[in-house]
Amino acid sequence: MSRRARAALLGANRALYGLARPLLFRMSAQAAHDRTLDILRWADRQRWLQPLLRAAGGLAFDPEAGPVEVGGVMFDSPLIVAAGLVKGDGFASEADALGAVRRGANIIPGWRSIPWLAGPVEFGSFTRWPRLGNPGVVVWRDPPTRSAQNRVGLRNPGAVAAAAFLAARARWLPRQFGVNVAASPGVDDPAQQAEEVSAALAAFVQRGVRPAWFTVNLSCPNVEDDPANRQTPDLARRVCGAAMAAAQSGAPVWVKVGPALGADQYRALMQVCAEVGVRAIIATNTLPAPAPGAPALTAGVSGGRLHAQAVEAAALLVQEKARQGYPVDVIGCGGVMDAPTYHNFARLGVRAVQYWTALIYRGPLVAALIAAEHGQMARLSASREEEAALDRVA
Ligand SMILES: Cc1cc2nc3c(=O)[nH]c(=O)nc-3n(C[C@H](O)[C@H](O)[C@H](O)COP(=O)(O)O)c2cc1C
Repeated sequence: MSRRARAALLGANRALYGLARPLLFRMSAQAAHDRTLDILRWADRQRWLQPLLRAAGGLAFDPEAGPVEVGGVMFDSPLIVAAGLVKGDGFASEADALGAVRRGANIIPGWRSIPWLAGPVEFGSFTRWPRLGNPGVVVWRDPPTRSAQNRVGLRNPGAVAAAAFLAARARWLPRQFGVNVAASPGVDDPAQQAEEVSAALAAFVQRGVRPAWFTVNLSCPNVEDDPANRQTPDLARRVCGAAMAAAQSGAPVWVKVGPALGADQYRALMQVCAEVGVRAIIATNTLPAPAPGAPALTAGVSGGRLHAQAVEAAALLVQEKARQGYPVDVIGCGGVMDAPTYHNFARLGVRAVQYWTALIYRGPLVAALIAAEHGQMARLSASREEEAALDRVA
């Protein structure tokens, strides 16, 4: 597709989402989130949508940018949908979740349509056992800062049912997806945490589900029994070591960290990741903060209000990687919304980013918009540099 045709299509998308957004924003964030999951469940069933969504999603792929290798995976596009969108329904027990899989229910809405539309996607987080997540309102928006807050609380069908669901659809699985696993909140014993993460990951491997990467989520702020201790080097060594063994060298393992750690902790985590063979660190998860209207509860901030801190964390990790020569890539995540916010990670030398909240504020084709805007920005600055060099010669 020519650059002009891409630009026209992206312009149409901008205009369309510009019209749809005020309607969506009339609903509460919670209602919009629930409706989106209904739409994804419906879209997954519509095979006729595949070529349309693929064509639209293909816009994210900038042919001039070329493929990029990050964390042991070769990507066509450096923009990856972050964990938490395609994560699945909550269940009270594994028997219930497996029963739903046997009945043919779609327990992971978006598993098909989001990769058609957006390319690479990280599924999960999945815990060893199913979780219903937190009750009541769990998602909020803050339009002035283009932020969101959530306390979904790791709602998911559990790794065994998720793996059974995906294994039964092996023929239709996307070419590139990641699987994010986490220990159950409330499990404090390090040995049990390692055991849970490794069992969750093994559930996929044993059923022949082969993602392009696994992510170990060491950071979940949306539960009151905040497992901040998950991110200590000792625990990370144990949990990541177990994950590496369970992955059986089948897929690279990445680690996801929070945005509020000390500089020494980031450095130590980078060292542990290098030691155990983790290939990439995603910086970052959401930032813990009081939930809107319920300050005693915790809800993770994402989007604009997270961006600066996520960039700072990524910068520290990149610096340590360079200083020590560690073979661990850094993947930016937190408030990637447009070309400038993407560039804040890219200029550190980060070659891929993940995004979530940008989907709320800029619509389903946001990756294509960011890729196009960033390409334009890069071309503009190259031509400015060229002009400056000519001026100097003259
Ligand atoms: C509603 C919601 C649910 C999320 N659930 C998860 C999750 O289950 N696991 C995870 O690792 N991150 C989860 N995240 C965090 C995102 O993956 C991402 O790290 C964070 O939102 C920062 O990126 P953003 O500013 O582009 O949204 C969730 C985010 C949101 C908004």
